[in-house]
Amino acid sequence: MADFTDTLTDKHIAMIQRQPVFFVATAAPDARINLSPKGYDAFRVLAPDRVAWLDLAGSGNETNAHLLADGRITIMFCNFEQPALILRIYGRGKPVLPAEHGWYDLAQHFTLLPGTRQIFDIAVESVQTSCGWGVPFMEYERERHTLLKAHKDVDEEKWVGKRQAHPGSIDGLPTTRTDRYIEGTMPAPEK
Ligand SMILES: Cc1cc2nc3c(=O)[nH]c(=O)nc-3n(C[C@H](O)[C@H](O)[C@H](O)COP(=O)(O)O)c2cc1C
Repeated sequence: MADFTDTLTDKHIAMIQRQPVFFVATAAPDARINLSPKGYDAFRVLAPDRVAWLDLAGSGNETNAHLLADGRITIMFCNFEQPALILRIYGRGKPVLPAEHGWYDLAQHFTLLPGTRQIFDIAVESVQTSCGWGVPFMEYERERHTLLKAHKDVDEEKWVGKRQAHPGSIDGLPTTRTDRYIEGTMPAPEK
């Protein structure tokens, strides 16, 4: 049986803090539903009713597009060892970019990683836990450094060219224009 609470409990937060991977799903009318796996030390519980994650640039930016268009988001964590458990956070979110109001308040909770492009700020509306009895046992080996390395080594002109060739989401929804964080390039804190 699934259990629902309005906000995250201490037990939920402890489970989340052990997870090396989480999954995010968003949707918008008439658009493909997006589901993405996310790694790194990039997820924070800011309060029982507020979570955030540090998003690194990829070729697409579906979560940004869907949150602007619709706002709903589901984040899923699951244990791959004992005890079996799945935890879903249902909420509404918005992207916050480095130049935007609120960035510094959010960013202080994270270590900025190469390729950082935005933080998603999520208001938790409900939390569901369920058994997870069908989830396989798997052992965590290590982080995959490929994305961080790619952002450190990237050819900036190629990256910008790629972005301009594919503006918006895969369904043509608008996205906020995001840049990648390169060390020392953050804008000055807002007054
Ligand atoms: C360098 C690079 C790294 C990527 N890493 C991821 C990743 O970790 N997770 C993912 O779902 N997609 C990744 N992708 C694929 C797309 O960027 C993905 O379609 C896009 O990130 C989906 O939007 P979302 O990140 O808002 O979910 C990567 C692409 C590139 C070029």
